[in-house]
Amino acid sequence: ALLDIRPKPLAGRKIIVTSGPTHEPIDPVRYIANRSSGKQGHAIAAALARLGADVRLVSGPVGIADPAGVTTLHVETANEMKDAVEQLLPADAAVFVAAVADWRSETSAGEKFKKVAGEGPPALQMIENPDILAGVGHHKRRPSLVVGFAAETQDLVKNAEAKLRKKGADFIVANDVSRVGGVMGGDRNRVRIVSKAGVDEWPEMSKDEVATRLAALIAERLKTITV
Ligand code: CTP
Ligand code: CA
Repeated sequence: ALLDIRPKPLAGRKIIVTSGPTHEPIDPVRYIANRSSGKQGHAIAAALARLGADVRLVSGPVGIADPAGVTTLHVETANEMKDAVEQLLPADAAVFVAAVADWRSETSAGEKFKKVAGEGPPALQMIENPDILAGVGHHKRRPSLVVGFAAETQDLVKNAEAKLRKKGADFIVANDVSRVGGVMGGDRNRVRIVSKAGVDEWPEMSKDEVATRLAALIAERLKTITV
């Protein structure tokens, strides 16, 4: 076999990645979900693994394969994703790419809702899901490096800076999702890296290239942090 001599700057580093949407059940046949293909999160998990990291991917329901070289855990709901992530701590870094549903139906009906003539649709009581990134960003076993994403349709940088502070993240990868048929489900992405140091604007590139560059940035950052 050929000897792989590429450098593995993330060897010995454990990194948690969340990806995909979450599905929040309404009844046995229906759910609430965000739009997310999982492409960007899975690509980041794969790119970190290529740099030698021990990657634990916590994935919501997606239609794509588990990435090579990565340990993948499959979950359905935001609460399941939160539990899986917290059980994986401690870690050197965590990257939150998942499009977590912000709300869930307070109760999931045991039986399917039926249409009843004259009664109209069921009134769903919604409650807020836990913020998984904020929980880890402020955790007593917080990883040295915490990276979040921000999907925005307006005030991209302002909103990303607010999320950076509120969630205790080191970087927010800010994504403009206002274009219909744009980043959601597509193969290309244009992001800005928002940190305390300022805003770094990356040109439009494929989601795989974003993943490769982000993995390199994470490796660079972790190099200066000893465990
Ligand atoms: N996130 C999370 N858990 C949630 C909601 C969001 O971990 N319950 C993470 C996402 O994975 C992402 C970041 O927080 O890394 C920002 O997600 P986003 O939906 O843009 O922000 P929200 O805080 O939910 O605010 P809003 O949707 O109102 O813009
Ligand atoms: Ca949200």
